[in-house]
Amino acid sequence: MRKNILIWLLSLIVLLVLGIKGTEFYLSQKKEDKKIDALLKADEMPEVWIGKSKSQIPTDSKEGALILYGYNLIANTSYYLGPKGTIAHITNGMNCQNCHLQAGTVPYGNNFGKVAANYPEYRARNNGWQSISARVNDCFERSMNGKPLDSTSHEMKAIVAYLNWLGKDVPKGTKPPGTGIMKIKLLDKAANPEAGKLVYTTHCQSCHGANGNGLLNADGIGYAYPPLWGKNSYNDGAGMYRISNLAGFVQPNMPFGTNYHHPAITNEDAWNVAAFINSQPRPHINQSNDWKDISTKPFDFPFGPYADSFSEHQHKYGPYQPIINAKKEKMAVALH
Ligand code: HEC
Ligand code: HEC
Repeated sequence: MRKNILIWLLSLIVLLVLGIKGTEFYLSQKKEDKKIDALLKADEMPEVWIGKSKSQIPTDSKEGALILYGYNLIANTSYYLGPKGTIAHITNGMNCQNCHLQAGTVPYGNNFGKVAANYPEYRARNNGWQSISARVNDCFERSMNGKPLDSTSHEMKAIVAYLNWLGKDVPKGTKPPGTGIMKIKLLDKAANPEAGKLVYTTHCQSCHGANGNGLLNADGIGYAYPPLWGKNSYNDGAGMYRISNLAGFVQPNMPFGTNYHHPAITNEDAWNVAAFINSQPRPHINQSNDWKDISTKPFDFPFGPYADSFSEHQHKYGPYQPIINAKKEKMAVALH
């Protein structure tokens, strides 16, 4: 009997000790969890949007396979749709990711962070609401100087599936920092193509070539260095043909290997080299159906007619601030 009580007492002591230790452990775990939670939250809200990588594409579903095909079409557009494409011959041989770096995942690398969360989007250039596939086709017809894809084609569905997957964690209607193209500081004078030529020969020509025509890969499919002007480059209706877009892409990303934390060329050099590149010959596209409301043309849209009295030359090269100020004044008057 006494033995039984002893065992009972001992068990009680053991249980008490375990209980105290357990509570301590539980409390310290809680603290640890809180720390991890805080870290995860910080991860969920990075200062700039950073895309997902190819290895994160789900591999166990039909949807995953479609997303992966979309990724491949964006990374190796030329292989599928270029002049020697396996599916069709509808583009100039560039890859989407020549301009949307690493399949549209790089902060300020003209990435696709805001696409899933913001389309359909109203676009004054197209005089209406635009779906993701219509926006993609704009890049096919202008940036790739090619032909559009049917919106019901396997290829377009795959590209749209990839874009939706990539941006699915971005809350609807929001534009996280770092998406798209950087809006770099305006110059207070006109951008100078002559000065830009020197920037080009010093910082760009070694890769993009003396004639701006880039360098094809050894197999002739896709570019080691894509063209910046000439017949295989973007046409004069493309986003890059606006000097603010080109300069805003170049300063944080070029020469290749630069990132936005450490730009390699100055703000002024970026504007000047963009002015030089967009003064060289390139394919033309008929834009007579664009911009029905001419007052919505961006400040640096290079083709008139305009709702203001500034010349095509000033709209193209700047100085832009007077154009922006005049528009603001007009809007203020209209609101009164
Ligand atoms: C020559 C460079 C270039 C190439 C090549 C190119 N794009 Fe673009 N793309 C741009 C620019 C510049 C913009 C932004 C234009 C603007 O803001 O006015 C853009 C915008 C977009 C957008 C809208 C992004 C947003 O945030 O609203 C999508 C989607 C897109 N491109 C998809 C593609 C796809 C898919 C391809 C390949 C079929 C492609 N682009 C090829 C330069 C390019
Ligand atoms: C070390 C080689 C290198 C140098 C130097 C370089 N680039 Fe690039 N550039 C590239 C590569 C490679 C790409 C394509 C990126 C990709 O596909 O991931 C590219 C893409 C581009 C693009 C978008 C695609 C296109 O052809 O329209 C532009 C615009 C551009 N570079 C401009 C410049 C400018 C301006 C300079 C000089 C300030 C410059 N680059 C210097 C290698 C270079």
